[in-house]
Order: sequence, then structure tokens, then C-alpha cells
Amino acid sequence: MIRAVLVGAAGRMGRAITVAAQSEGGLRFTGAVDAARSAALGTDLGVHAGLAPLGVSIGSELAPLLPCADVVMDFSQPAVVGETLGRCAAARVPLLVGTTGLGTEQLLAAEQAARSIAVLIAPNTSLGVTLLLELVRRAAAALPTDYDIEIFEAHHREKKDAPSGTALALGRAAAQGRGRDFDDVAVRSRSGSGPRQPGEIGFAVQRAGDIVGEHSVTFAAAGERLVLGHVATDRAVFARGALAAARWLAGRHAGRYTMADVLSS
Ligand SMILES: NC(=O)c1ccc[n+]([C@@H]2O[C@H](COP(=O)([O-])OP(=O)(O)OC[C@H]3O[C@@H](n4cnc5c(N)ncnc54)[C@H](OP(=O)(O)O)[C@@H]3O)[C@@H](O)[C@H]2O)c1
Repeated sequence: MIRAVLVGAAGRMGRAITVAAQSEGGLRFTGAVDAARSAALGTDLGVHAGLAPLGVSIGSELAPLLPCADVVMDFSQPAVVGETLGRCAAARVPLLVGTTGLGTEQLLAAEQAARSIAVLIAPNTSLGVTLLLELVRRAAAALPTDYDIEIFEAHHREKKDAPSGTALALGRAAAQGRGRDFDDVAVRSRSGSGPRQPGEIGFAVQRAGDIVGEHSVTFAAAGERLVLGHVATDRAVFARGALAAARWLAGRHAGRYTMADVLSS
């Protein structure tokens, strides 16, 4: 039985992961953390997720929970991730970062932490998107460069980062397939920006209602369009993928990993 600690436990993904863990088995939570200001502090993790009590109280301190953890899962906010990385590295506990919208500071902290622990950064833990990333990389490599690449994503109205971490990962996969540096070709938003430049990878974003997550990558040339896409209809798909990643990470040696490593094993 793998012992896990959940950071961002009171949020949408925290609840979905708690529910999925109860139905799947093989992993139990020994600790749960949320913001110090959270109304959920002191609440039982299971009760907060609509389940029977699990005997794990949601607290605000990660460090004291780490001696009893085989793996940590962070689904919180980008500003939290640096601290989670530092604490997990100090305690030698592998970490799954599901939080999206990471900036340079957090990515550098991840590189540093990965020298001493296993770190898996997964902007999308679904099986379908993990495969889609590979399909996009291959399509971008196979098609001539006059096929314009455009990425669309839609999410619920509460989502904080845009474009989504998954959309950016798809853009990176496409740029990699083309042998281009992502930052040289990414156009993260358009507003009166003039005609499209050759080689650009453009992003379009929609925020509305309770959309769980939709992504599509269009390869468009004169006379045809190839559209590769993914629609998530239930957060449980991310939760199940997160649990698979956490089980895979427990006991893993230091380094940086992706969901593709989980899928390929
Ligand atoms: N990898 C994937 O497949 C996947 C799928 C879906 C979402 N995500 C990402 O996962 C993250 C969470 O998404 P969500 O929809 O669950 O968001 P959410 O409902 O806002 O949950 C985030 C939780 O983190 C808490 N938090 C804030 N500061 C904290 C701290 N210092 N320590 C611990 N917890 C803290 C928040 O508390 P407050 O509300 O009090 O701030 C909230 O309860 C986002 O970055 C999202 O984009 C990833």
C-alpha cells in the first residue's frame, strides 16, 4: 500500500483524487494539505470529498507529513509548487506536480529537486492527452512546414492560467516535431496582430461554465485540415492518471519524468 500526501487537497482535483483513490485501492493518504486560510482546514479528507471519514485531517503544513509518505501529489497553485519541491527534496520523497501555469522559477526549482528526488511534471495526467502529445509530435514532424499549426483549448470559468498547461505542452510537442524552439514560434494570444507569420504556433482560449477540458491541434494547409483533439468530460480521468503516476513514482530514483514514462511502462 503506497502512502501519499495530497497538496491542494480541498480543491476540485484534490476531491476527485481522493474519490478515485478510494475506488481504486493500492494507495492511501497519510496526509492532506491546503492553504492556511482554507475553510476546509481541520476537516476530514474523505468527508470533504463526500465520502466516509478517512481519518486524515486537512492541515496547512507539509513538512511534518513527509516522514510517513512514499509520494506527494501537488494539485494546488503555481506559487505553492516551489515550496513543495523544496520540502520533498529535503525529505527525499518523490513528487508528482499536477499544478499547471508553472513559471521559470518553478521549472528551475524542479530541475534542482530532480537531482535528489523523482519529479514528474504532468500538466495533464489523462491517458488520452499523454497519447495525443505523441501523435502531435509525429504529425508535426511528418507534415510539410506550410501546414499551419493552431491550438485551441476550453476550460471552466474558474481556471486561473491561460493558455492551459496542456495547450502549452501540445505546442511544445508540435515545435519539437518541427525541430523549432517553442518560444521562437509560440503566439500565446492574438488581437489585431496582422497576418499570420510562417511557422507560428498560435493559441486560442475559451473560458466558460463547467467545461472540464477540451484541446485540439489543427494542422491546416491549402485544401485540407488535420485536427487532433481530446475532450475530457469528467475530472475523474485526471484523477485516475494522477494515481497511476503516483504509484509509478513511489520508490523511483531521482530524475525528471513525464506521463509518457508512466504510459510506456
Ligand atoms: N495535471 C492534470 O491533469 C490537471 C487536471 C486538472 C487541473 N490541473 C491543475 O491542478 C491545479 C488545481 O486545480 P483545481 O481545479 O483543483 O483548482 P482548485 O479547485 O482551485 O484547487 C487548488 C487548491 O489548492 C489550494 N491551495 C492554495 N494555496 C495552497 C497552499 N499554500 N498549500 C496547499 N494548498 C493550497 C487552494 O486553496 P484556495 O482555494 O483557498 O486558494 C485550493 O483548495 C491547477 O493548476 C489546475 O490547472 C491539473
